[in-house]
Amino acid sequence: MFQSKIAGIGYYVPKNVYTNNDLTRFMETSDEWIQERTGIKERRYADRLEETTTTMAVEAAKIAIERAGTSTEAIDFIIFATLSPDYYFPGCGVLLQREMGMKEIGALDIRNQCSGFVYALSVADQFIKTGMYRNILVVGSEKHSFALDYSTRGRSVSVIFGDGAGAVVLQPSSEAGKGILSTHLHADGGEAEKLAMYYPGASGGKWLDQKPTWPDQELGGMLMTSDMLADGTAFPYMDGQAVFKKAVVKFPEVIHEALAKNNLKASDIDMLVPHQANLRISQFVQKTLGLRDDQVFNNIQKYGNTTAASVPIALCEAWEQGKIKDGDLVCLAAFGAGFTWGSALIRW
Ligand code: ACO
Repeated sequence: MFQSKIAGIGYYVPKNVYTNNDLTRFMETSDEWIQERTGIKERRYADRLEETTTTMAVEAAKIAIERAGTSTEAIDFIIFATLSPDYYFPGCGVLLQREMGMKEIGALDIRNQCSGFVYALSVADQFIKTGMYRNILVVGSEKHSFALDYSTRGRSVSVIFGDGAGAVVLQPSSEAGKGILSTHLHADGGEAEKLAMYYPGASGGKWLDQKPTWPDQELGGMLMTSDMLADGTAFPYMDGQAVFKKAVVKFPEVIHEALAKNNLKASDIDMLVPHQANLRISQFVQKTLGLRDDQVFNNIQKYGNTTAASVPIALCEAWEQGKIKDGDLVCLAAFGAGFTWGSALIRW
């Protein structure tokens, strides 16, 4: 059985910077409110027409492939994590394949929101371990800016999110004991509606206490209408306090699970790269685990929460800044909508 390793990593963020003060030009908010509650100072928004979830992923993927010392032709499988796909269907995996001129390799889309990248990495790890593939491109990319509610109703959610992409190439490890040591995935759909975007979707409002006010349609009700936008049901909804409460329990739990599986302890971690949900959540997790500042990497201050892209972007920046070195024990952890959560322990 082969162990897998991250052979190359890259990220891309759009050049348009929106500071908290920039947001005050078109919504009722303040730099003080956003920084105090989330730690975010600025985020990037993709060009409305020129950049998509796929185009950003392509830029990140090119860097990851080059750093892996391989070529686009050698990639034999794509796993693409996103909650903001270019189309309702098909997924972004096939669009990435087309845009990068890849051959007819398999392409899989993962819809696990903020945990999407950790789920994708775990799936890729299994394929490498069985020997089915040898060069898997794993991507997390988001263009949140297409669906943020800048009215007062949606402001606690919309200030949090930003756009960007991260990618890795996973290959069999040539050094024993180096690479992905284990991955751990969990979900609990009991609170699915607490962090969700309800439409476009085929539920017709079945799971919602408050049924949509837009007119009944004889044939379902899946199409996006201006009524849905007015209702707010076509924007992300978040019960922020419910998310906070669950996240600060599940992050440490799934990190401890990974450590226990490998007979390691929190103090052995050289770098924890948590999903960049909210700086307050990361700080809470750090404190619970008893980690020093130099054992945890955060960059939400600059990019906001980029959901499936946040872990690979943060991992790449930490590595580029020399904060992750050969032989280090790196822990990735994520929690998000679903709820879903997971971790990956890597000997770099
Ligand atoms: N600017 C200014 N005021 C605002 C804003 C804003 N952007 N958003 C909300 N407010 C106001 C509200 O209107 C309310 O005013 P009121 O007291 O006069 O009624 C007040 O601030 C408090 O609003 P709440 O919605 O109760 O805000 P809360 O204190 O819960 O903070 C937050 C919201 C930051 C989202 C918090 O719940 C939190 O940190 N939750 C964690 C969830 C999270 O970070 N999720 C990240 C994305 S999901 C993920 O990645 C896992």
